[in-house]
Amino acid sequence: MDFAPRIVAWQRQHGRHDLPWQNTRDPYRIWLSEIMLQQTQVATVIPYYERFLQRFPDVAALAAAAQEDVMPYWAGLGYYARARNLHRCAQEIARDWNGRFPPTAEAIATLPGIGRSTAAAIAAFAYGERSPILDGNVKRVFTRQFGIAGDPAKREIEQRLWALADANVDAAPGLDMAAYTQGLMDLGATLCTRGKPACERCPVADTCVAKRDGRQAELPTPKAR
Ligand code: ADE
Repeated sequence: MDFAPRIVAWQRQHGRHDLPWQNTRDPYRIWLSEIMLQQTQVATVIPYYERFLQRFPDVAALAAAAQEDVMPYWAGLGYYARARNLHRCAQEIARDWNGRFPPTAEAIATLPGIGRSTAAAIAAFAYGERSPILDGNVKRVFTRQFGIAGDPAKREIEQRLWALADANVDAAPGLDMAAYTQGLMDLGATLCTRGKPACERCPVADTCVAKRDGRQAELPTPKAR
């Protein structure tokens, strides 16, 4: 089970390393990038990210602003609940965490609008915490790699996928969590795509159950309808 190290090696060789939110361990910057990237593509996010940070360089600056002063910096990105939650998070961090970003994925996940996977991504990038992510793209990677049938939105399937996410990290002592987390996201976004996965370029194709059985098109199992 050397799944995780192969993801890291692939990320180091083929991934992007020069995005504005990489090469920082500032949880504020990483948090902002993860929220912006949730429903928006990298190329769109970059200029918004830079403008936002110029105006609100840290949690204190964001917490001190009125929400009306924040929204213009989000105009055009869509999904405006993200911006309202961002502002609420900053105020909660200022009030309940002495202005310091919460120190663990578990604590980050208590903030408004931050789910378990996003909290884990922030903690992995900012702190190197061994907290696995499981977003939509990673669910697709795992259902194929480990041959997990059933709707991944169902609780039972989701629990199995979280258990696999944990097991892959547990099996890899000394894992570079930032590279692993970014590699998983990038693999799901670029090679292990829904339509035509590029298995010939995939670093974990030789252990992929879906590839072995020719079931890439059936996994993940679509929602029953
Ligand atoms: N989507 C969510 N987080 C991301 C990240 N760190 N890189 C690329 N796409 C993402």
